[in-house]
Amino acid sequence: MKMTATFATKIHEDPDPVDAANKPDGSGAVLRPFRVCHLTVLATAFCALVFYAHYAIRGNMASALFKPPVTISSSSLPLLSSTSTIDPSLQPEKPATNRSAAAPASESDHCDGRYIYMYDMPPRFNDDLVRHCGKGELHPWLDMCPYVANDGMGEPLGDEGGVFPGHGWYATDQFTLDLIFHSRMKRSYECLTNDTTLAAAVFVPFYAGLDAGRFLYNHSTSIRDKLQLEFIDWLVNRPEWRAMGGRDHFLVAGRTTWDFRREADVDALWGTKLLTHPAVKNMTAFVLEKSPSSRNNFAIPYPTYFHPEAAADVVAWQQKVREIPRRWLFSFAGAPRPGSNKTVRAELIRQCGASSLCNLFHCGGKDGDGAADCNSPGGVMRVFEGSDFCLQPRGDTATRRSTFDALLAGCVPVFFHRDSAYTQYALHFPRDHARYSVLIPHAGVAAGRVSIEERLGRIPAEEVRRMREAVIRLIPRVVYADPRAGRAGFNDAFDVAVEAIIDRVAKRRCGEDEVTAGTTE
Ligand SMILES: *[C@@H]1O[C@H](CO)[C@@H](O)[C@H](O)[C@H]1NC(C)=O
Ligand SMILES: *[C@@H]1O[C@H](CO)[C@@H](O)[C@H](O)[C@H]1NC(C)=O
Ligand SMILES: *[C@@H]1O[C@H](CO)[C@@H](O)[C@H](O)[C@H]1NC(C)=O
Ligand SMILES: *[C@@H]1O[C@H](CO)[C@@H](O)[C@H](O)[C@H]1NC(C)=O
Ligand SMILES: *[C@@H]1O[C@H](CO)[C@@H](O)[C@H](O)[C@H]1NC(C)=O
Repeated sequence: MKMTATFATKIHEDPDPVDAANKPDGSGAVLRPFRVCHLTVLATAFCALVFYAHYAIRGNMASALFKPPVTISSSSLPLLSSTSTIDPSLQPEKPATNRSAAAPASESDHCDGRYIYMYDMPPRFNDDLVRHCGKGELHPWLDMCPYVANDGMGEPLGDEGGVFPGHGWYATDQFTLDLIFHSRMKRSYECLTNDTTLAAAVFVPFYAGLDAGRFLYNHSTSIRDKLQLEFIDWLVNRPEWRAMGGRDHFLVAGRTTWDFRREADVDALWGTKLLTHPAVKNMTAFVLEKSPSSRNNFAIPYPTYFHPEAAADVVAWQQKVREIPRRWLFSFAGAPRPGSNKTVRAELIRQCGASSLCNLFHCGGKDGDGAADCNSPGGVMRVFEGSDFCLQPRGDTATRRSTFDALLAGCVPVFFHRDSAYTQYALHFPRDHARYSVLIPHAGVAAGRVSIEERLGRIPAEEVRRMREAVIRLIPRVVYADPRAGRAGFNDAFDVAVEAIIDRVAKRRCGEDEVTAGTTE
């Protein structure tokens, strides 16, 4: 029994291939803090009341009801073709009122329905971690200070022989998203509020990933959990928490979910138990890779080396990767894993090494230690920029930072497991996976029955070009803009995530996800 009012119908008609198709619950609903509840008349009435209470205070009921909260810009259409040089995904946002025919002409706050309340936390939960970044502090054996510099972007990169023209390029570590996201929120999100009654969602800037990274290899579970449990204790005692038992709260834990999902207090088990804690299960966690069974974790892109300050930086980069000559059909950058030589990875390294059309960037060393080349942003990006396809087998887990480096380079990713991307980045990637990537099922590859060269070589040049264009159009959505730059003028990975959390919390206010939840947690 759906109740769809006319204003909602208008919005639903927007052609919106990415946003509409890829909500966390796959409902295809367009972002809106006020959604007519899909439950019962009772629930609908209840939701309206809650909503009224939420907004009445500002006397902004009408605008809250009728205006889409999030400016729906043409950035929702990154894949629609255009022959113009200026990517339509980068055009300035249009006033939201134009998108809603039913919108009253009242002058209203463009932040309505988009306000985020961000906790001011004791520094031991965030800033102190960054301050103690020296060798052995944030990482068991590395000095992380260069990587937490510049709000988590790391040190600026030079041009590296023409690989990185322009500016916006940094030697970014894959695990500094806690910091990047917080800075982005703090320094350039325009709709922060200190008034919890206005907030569409509540951001908790605990650096869970940086904290966990300190002790992952420590055998003591109590050492690993210490700060995370202190954090939970602090959080659940806040008055802001009580309003919804944390169900309007979210955090960013910039590592894969597997680093936070320990199920028992057994020293031999990996990780902390942050995400298995009942309080945190009430929240939403953004991680780099989610657990397939979790409803409360969402995967968002790994940070890459590119942090544009403005739309123009992105446009210039898109143009460069569009035009760059690509002499390799495919490439692989990575190290062999110890163990079986019957894995997909081992087979890819074998096939790539044997193919005159493949560029094998064979990372040496153990545990990344001696792999100087693979830690060289310029080296890796040069390989990807010169290839049509980039092979992305599983690493320690299903996903890899390398996938995002490949996208950035305009190289079409080739996956071997759906969990490497399709089941993960549903907020950021188009639902039609074949447009921007290739899936070669792993079993055949591991068994040595599939020739990658033959499989990729069969794809017509025109199709390769189309896929590359789709990849290039994804770039703005998967990069994290320079947090220091203010509004960058396009929707980046942060904006996409924030829109999603606002939508999710709005649904939770209506009790929707509780009713539809089929799985626990
Ligand atoms: C947006 O709305 C304003 C005022 O209603 C109107 O003047 C303007 O032409 C509209 N712009 C577009 C692109 O529809
Ligand atoms: C919220 O309060 C803090 C501390 O008083 C202040 O620094 C900050 O600017 C306020 N933020 C907003 C959005 O008003
Ligand atoms: C675990 O961490 C504690 C606290 O930093 C430290 O004293 C201890 O030596 C570490 N143990 C191992 C095996 O690293
Ligand atoms: C989590 O949410 C449930 C349902 O709203 C609530 O009963 C519970 O108290 C919350 N847990 C915590 C730790 O606040
Ligand atoms: C694969 O591993 C097996 C057993 O360890 C070994 O006998 C074989 O020579 C290896 N093959 C290659 C191609 O390395």
